Amino acid sequence: MFIDLKKRRLHKRLVREIDPNNLPKHVGIIMDGNGRWAQKRGLPRSAGHRAGAQNLKTITEFAGEMGIRYITAYAFSTENWKRPKEEVDALMQLLLDYLRDKNQLAGKNVSIRVIGDRSALSDEINREIDVIEDYTKDRDGMVLYLAINYGGRQEIARAVNQLCREACDGTIEPGQISEQMISERVYTNDVPEADLIIRPSGELRLSNFLLWQSAYSEFWFSDICWPDFSTKDFTQAILDYQNRNRRFGG
Ligand code: FPP
Repeated sequence: MFIDLKKRRLHKRLVREIDPNNLPKHVGIIMDGNGRWAQKRGLPRSAGHRAGAQNLKTITEFAGEMGIRYITAYAFSTENWKRPKEEVDALMQLLLDYLRDKNQLAGKNVSIRVIGDRSALSDEINREIDVIEDYTKDRDGMVLYLAINYGGRQEIARAVNQLCREACDGTIEPGQISEQMISERVYTNDVPEADLIIRPSGELRLSNFLLWQSAYSEFWFSDICWPDFSTKDFTQAILDYQNRNRRFGG
């Protein structure tokens, strides 16, 4: 009890240290370590994913209160199909349940959007994506992008294919393709590039997440498994971000 109180006080003190004028606009989160979290507790991996999905709500809510405008969360990568069928099915069911909970984050005024290759997702999931995107489209507090069947390389290839089609149609000049034109054709074309990318669970890699948008991202890693990643850890990540010297190559 006493320890809890002390922890809460420390957390509050940390939150007060945050400079509201230097918040990252766009935070990417790689929700890693769900499997290990479950294993440590003798639970099935799916229980770890469920705890991870729940934690995403907690962290999104908290980030919104802090004033962060965009979060992109890596929920399922183009490579995750290689996992055992049982785990893929459990993740798809979890996504379905998550998308069906239309009123989640309503009080926090969060709009939910999905990025990724939707063609491989079931009709049921596609329908729920349409429903939740439409249902939450007027919420203007913050935007939560769920990356589902998302891969950074797939996203860039998709933009390149689109540019090729436009070049064939004669609407653009083939030799004149600029970085800006690619930025306008990635899924996150109406969002600032990722200022901060958080990856818990001890892995130090990007795993095909936001490749185009992370050219000048700051990275924040920790050993904590995602379901245990707390609002205090998020606060610490933001404070560390605010102490970085971002020069953008200048
Ligand atoms: C990586 O942890 C995590 C994933 C492959 C999926 C992340 C998905 C969720 C948190 C749940 C689905 C999301 C929503 C929003 C419903 P891992 O399984 O690779 O962990 P490990 O490295 O410990 O095995």
